[in-house]
Amino acid sequence: MTQFSHRHLLGIEGLSKQDITAVLDLADQYVDQNRTAQKHSNALKGLTQINMFFENSTRTQASFEIAGKRLGADVMNMSMQTSSVKKGETLIDTALTLNAMHPDLLVVRHPNSGAVNLLAEKVNCAVINAGDGRHEHPTQALLDALTIRRRKGKLERLTVAICGDIAHSRVARSNAILLGRMDNRVRLIGPRTLMPGNTDTLGAEVYEDMEKGLEGCDVVMMLRLQRERMDGGFIPSEREYYHRWGLDPAKLSHAKDDAIVMHPGPMNRGVEIDGILADDINRSVIQEQVEMGVAVRMAIMDLLARNLRAKPEAVYA
Ligand code: NCD
Repeated sequence: MTQFSHRHLLGIEGLSKQDITAVLDLADQYVDQNRTAQKHSNALKGLTQINMFFENSTRTQASFEIAGKRLGADVMNMSMQTSSVKKGETLIDTALTLNAMHPDLLVVRHPNSGAVNLLAEKVNCAVINAGDGRHEHPTQALLDALTIRRRKGKLERLTVAICGDIAHSRVARSNAILLGRMDNRVRLIGPRTLMPGNTDTLGAEVYEDMEKGLEGCDVVMMLRLQRERMDGGFIPSEREYYHRWGLDPAKLSHAKDDAIVMHPGPMNRGVEIDGILADDINRSVIQEQVEMGVAVRMAIMDLLARNLRAKPEAVYA
């Protein structure tokens, strides 16, 4: 039986190597299931899943909803645009109100770093972080890891470049932690103005020059400029940014010949990535990342539900 002794999934930070491997192994099974006509199973039957997205989302919200439905949960999407949050209700009051309806799984995205951890302390159900500010986005890192493991046949001793707006990106943070934990080399590439101050605690090497940073990489992960988290101008112009940090075939030629190109979406073609390269099925695995997203979310919710059913009152790691 798979071991995954957590009550919530708040970040990659709290996961061990074994935890990560357990999620990916189970997700592999769900990839197979999702490719058949019989996509449904019963891991979440009888359970209620509420998705609370306080920030815009296309992929993440849709894939949590599909994942829950494929596993038989009753899934409800709270529309935060029309909820009482607009009337001034705090996050905690909203959460306590929902908690009184006895959900089993709460999937939360919030613009403030740490908001999801706070919420997890106030409710009785399992909480999954679907992205909090610039802090963590654990299911994105897990789906990226699954994509890499399936494409490269391993998830260790690889060199992975994460490029662009690192400072404002929870995807970069969660990925750097996960990839480091699995014994890969992580390079962070981008303008100095978009590099966080704590890159050494992430165990990553920092490059400002794309060509140098991409040299010999197995995986190239591109990120969007997170303008909603910027206060002021961090780049001279989009044209200049594309020229220096946008991924095009010429820059990619510095990575290994079989390097794969990734992007969590949403993508800004012609800003951080060349549109033709993004669609090149020989290099880009962007659509595969979306497919892996559903499987990984099924795996996580299945594992958390097993714990809920086995020991509802237990104290978790
Ligand atoms: C990312 C996010 O929301 O953090 N998107 C996603 O979940 N696929 C990245 C982004 O918004 O740029």
